[in-house]
This record gives sequence, C-alpha cells and structure tokens, in this order.
Amino acid sequence: MKKRNPAKPLAENKHLLKWVEKMSDLCKPDAIHWVDGSQEEYDALCAQMVRSGTFTKLNEKLWPGCYYARSDATDVARVEDRTYICSYSKDAAGPTNNWVNPYEMRSKLKHLFRGCMAGRTMYVLPYSMGPIGSPMSQIGVQLTDSPYVVVNMRIMARIGLPVFEQIDRAEKRVVPCMHSVGAPLKPGQKDVAWPCNKEKYIVHFPETREIWSYGSGYGGNALLGKKCFALRIASNMARDEGWMAEHMLILGVEDPKGAKTYVAAAFPSACGKTNFAMMIPPASFQKKGWKVWTVGDDIAWIRPDANGRLRAINPEAGFFGVAPGTSNATNPNAMASLAKNTIFTNVALTPEGGVWWEGMTETPPPQLTDWQGNPWTPEIAKTTGAKAAHANARFTAPASQCPTIDPAWEDPAGVPISAFIFGGRRATTMPLVFQAFNWSTGVYIGATMGSEMTAAAAGTIGKVRRDPMAMLPFCGYHMGDYFRHWITMQKRLSEVPRVFHVNWFRKGADGKFLWPGFGENMRVLKWIVDRARGRALAKETPIGWVPHYDDIDWTGLKFSEEKFDELQRFDRALWRAEVIGHEELFLDLHDHLPKEMVYERELLICRM
Ligand code: GTP
Ligand code: SPV
Ligand code: MN
Repeated sequence: MKKRNPAKPLAENKHLLKWVEKMSDLCKPDAIHWVDGSQEEYDALCAQMVRSGTFTKLNEKLWPGCYYARSDATDVARVEDRTYICSYSKDAAGPTNNWVNPYEMRSKLKHLFRGCMAGRTMYVLPYSMGPIGSPMSQIGVQLTDSPYVVVNMRIMARIGLPVFEQIDRAEKRVVPCMHSVGAPLKPGQKDVAWPCNKEKYIVHFPETREIWSYGSGYGGNALLGKKCFALRIASNMARDEGWMAEHMLILGVEDPKGAKTYVAAAFPSACGKTNFAMMIPPASFQKKGWKVWTVGDDIAWIRPDANGRLRAINPEAGFFGVAPGTSNATNPNAMASLAKNTIFTNVALTPEGGVWWEGMTETPPPQLTDWQGNPWTPEIAKTTGAKAAHANARFTAPASQCPTIDPAWEDPAGVPISAFIFGGRRATTMPLVFQAFNWSTGVYIGATMGSEMTAAAAGTIGKVRRDPMAMLPFCGYHMGDYFRHWITMQKRLSEVPRVFHVNWFRKGADGKFLWPGFGENMRVLKWIVDRARGRALAKETPIGWVPHYDDIDWTGLKFSEEKFDELQRFDRALWRAEVIGHEELFLDLHDHLPKEMVYERELLICRM
C-alpha cells in the first residue's frame, strides 16, 4: 500500500485551508500533518513517541495497547491562574474569571506563537464533540505541535476524516483552537521527553469562539476539546442558544422493573464523578435488579427537546480519569475500561512494564519507578515523602471499553434527564443528601456549592472554596449571568428535573469519612431516583427534604441510625458560617445576580 503524504490537505474548505496556512506562517513548523484519525496513524505516532522518549510501551501481555508518559514536573495539572476569558468587556467575563483586554491578549499571543513550532510538526486535528452528525454536537479544529495531544484526543473525541467531511459540507461553524507546547527547537537541538514552557496561557475569546493555549501539554490545558471548548466556549454558545454545557457526569439507573431514570451530577474536579458514573451497586441491590449505566463521566451538554424535556449527551468519547484511588475495590468498571488501549500519565512504573498508583492495591509492588523517574519504595517514601504516582496522575481510556457503558450513550438525541445532583468534598456541615424544595432553591444550592480544593488544579489543596455548579474554573462568562441562565431554563421545560445535593466526604471526630462511599452511594442514588419518580418519602428541614433513616434501603450494610443521624446532622452554627460564605460570593457577583438568588438566601436564613 502506498503511504499517504500527511502534508496533503484532507479538506477542501477554503476557510480552513487559509487558516492553516496563516497559522503555519505564524508558528513556522517544520512540517504539517493532516490527521486522518486512523488506527495506523495512531500506532505510528505512538511508535514515534516511544522513539523520542515521550512514551514507554507497556508490557503487551499485561497492558495490551497501552502507553505510559511522564510529564515535566511543572506541568501536572490545569493552571487556573493562567486561564483567561478575553471577552470584549471585562464585565462579560465577570469577577471569577481572569480577564485581559482581547486586543492586548492577541498581540501577546501573536508574539508567543511566532516561530513557536520550529523544529516540530504542526498537526491539523479535526474533532467532533458529541457523536458525528448529532444535532447537539459541535466541531473544532486544533492545530497542535504535540503528538501526545493528538493520540489522547483520538481517545477523548471523534477525530479525523469524518470530521473533515463535515467541515467540507460546512453545516456547522468550526471553533479554531491553537495549541503549542511553546518549545521551539533550534536546528540540531535534541528534544526533551515532555516539552513545555514555564510561561503558560490558556486563552478563550468567547465572542469569536476561539481558543489559544500555550506552554502546557497536560490534560485540560492541552486537550482543547475538553474544558476549553466543551465547557468554557460551549457555555457561551449554550447561553446564547438556550441550552446548557455543564461539568456533569450522566448515568442511567435501571430499576427492578427495567425502567431507566437518567440523572446528571456536578461534582468539582477530583470529587467523584468518574466513580459515581461507573458505580456498581451493592450485591443486595443487584439481586433485586438494580443496575447503573454510564453515559459520561465529566461533561454534559443538555438541551430541551421538542416536548420540553431536558436531554443530555456526553460530548466526549473517552475518560481522562484520576488514577490514584482507582482500584478493583472502588471502581472495577474504570479498571476494566483502562485495561487496554489506554494512555497513562504520571503514574508509577513497575519493572515488568506495568503501572501502579496509590490505592490500586493495598501493598505496592516492589521496585517501582515513580512519576518523576526515581526509584520508589514505601521505605524511600517514608524519608522523602514522595508519592509513587502524582495525585493528579490520569488515564486516558476509550469510553466504549466501559462494561457498563449505556446502550444509548451515543444516541444523537441524548438521554432524558430526571434529576440534577450537586455535590462537593466537605469534611463538615453538608449532610449526605438533601433535596431542594423546587427549581430555584435547587439553582441556589448549586450556585452556593462549596468544595475543598484538590490536586486537579494547581493551588492550595484542602481549602474550601465556592465552586458554583462545579463550574468555577469552567464557566466562560459572568457567573451571575450563568445563574440567571439556569433560572430561565425552567421556562423552556414541561418537566423540571428534581435537584439534590450530596456529600460523600463528611468526616467524624476521628477524622475518618463517616460514609463508606463508592458502591454504597447506590443507597442514596436509589432514594434520589425514587424521589424523582414520586415513590419515596422525605422529611422537611430548613435546608430541604431529607430521607428518614427508614427511607434508605440498608439491606446488606450495617449502618446504625445514630451514625446516619450524625451524617445528616444540621448544625446551626456551621450553617451560619456557610451562609456567610454564600454572601461573600454574592457580593462579588451582586450587579449580575438574579433576584431569585437573593430571595432564596433570605428564605434560607428565615428557615434557619
Ligand atoms: P475530574 O476528572 O477531575 O473531573 O474528577 P472526578 O469528579 O471524575 O473524580 P473521580 O471520580 O476521579 O474521584 C476522585 C477521587 O475521589 C478518587 O481518588 C476517588 O477514589 C475518590 N472518590 C470517589 N468517590 C468517592 C466516594 O464515594 N468516597 C470517597 N471517600 N472517595 C471517593
Ligand atoms: C478536571 O480537572 O476537572 C478534569 C481534568 O476533568 S482536566 O482535563 O485536566 O481538566
Ligand atoms: Mn472534570
């Protein structure tokens, strides 16, 4: 077979060809590679990265089709303080986003990108967020000098020829995405395994629907279809067009009668979306016929259908999941998903060419090499404090490999949503579960969500911050306007989803989690689904509806009423501080805050 010349354009669209030429003139790559998305191309890129030292091929018997990458030690997570929303006016971006005047930013970017791809190949990577051809899908083209990004994007999105075809038919607007690791090579200069730049810019132009990312090769900074497009740009599209782009998992609960109820849940980064989406119910629930099906683990695009029912698609095709803590005990479905054809980044390596991370097994295998390439044993860790895997080490795995992937996960029309769940990581204050009184109280609960910060972003780990709807780092416009958009969505609906709040992370006096979590979360999920279907009881409290002890199915788990009461306890003093925390966020947003939020806060205070 004759080898394809990758420099030959795979699309005819004049705008695309002109843009590629213009960007190539700016970035000065040595070569251009039009990405067709084929398996052969993927294999060749992986082999090339094995040769260059970016990838290690894992043991084919233990980890078929898997590769391992170690990032630069300074490029391990999203960089929120280097992330910008450059709308025409500062007011449109709001106080929770970094803003720079777009003209100023454009000239800065032009300067940064000038010659930035020297010595490298520029890949022209077309991708569809959502099933190709779905009316809910959107198209982007990412120009990138990172082959690591290309192969990860092939797992995370639909890429290649079918997308070029769509672009040629010009049915949808294309979002242009520029990406460079910012490490040009001089002639003859040897490359490093993980090129990146100390200076990082993750920039969004919401009005012109453009993304420019410089200096990082990691996750949400570099896989531009994910947070940059599917949340920050898409949240702008969604507001303008009457739909929602949310940091939410989507799952379907099949009850013993075979009826399915789909719910979407917003938990902040590294707070349990992947685990909840792939949950395996306890044995006693399985026996009765309960089953959980996975639609998505990170992002949901949600739109009212012709009947006024909200329907959701997962715009992604893979999981970019947190490795540490993932095990056959906590998340067997994730373990099955990542067993083959997966890319691991910043986990630890075994001498057999396997991978390991904290929590995968109780005792680590001997002679590990840690995520920074150093020898690692529990003894060494005792003196250095080093972790074998970085806390934000991730796996990139195809969603199709998940044993519980929902038969409708690629349905172009999406799945109907009956409930929204909000949840954070909170050691105190927040009960295991409560239900909002109605839509606007539900929006208030989402808007005032708090969570302890995690390793998914650079910053202070453990500090409680307000993270409205888990969208603080991802909403591409003013947070107050975003709340208003949520409030107004109700008017388009004939059936309004019920809204809940959960917290798997409350701790007792001994500092240990009060709730076993993971599969046991099914007990809470069953109550939620039964409430949404109007078949479970609840009791009214100042913060919302809560289950009585007997409203939860406890079969197969010893969990005392006293312990449940402790988990659910409403502590007036802590809630006082909580409401003051709400006010702090609202003060920042006051001139854009919908009045519903102010009234809801007053009502909450009155009830308390
Ligand atoms: P992003 O991909 O960053 O958006 O994260 P995510 O929300 O998908 O989080 P994920 O499911 O990967 O979980 C993050 C961490 O929380 C992992 O270390 C899990 O082991 C842990 N975790 C998830 N669910 C539970 C739970 O029910 N209880 C406890 N204690 N920990 C959990
Ligand atoms: C998150 O941080 O919420 C993630 C990982 O899902 S990243 O893709 O890096 O944003
Ligand atoms: Mn996420």
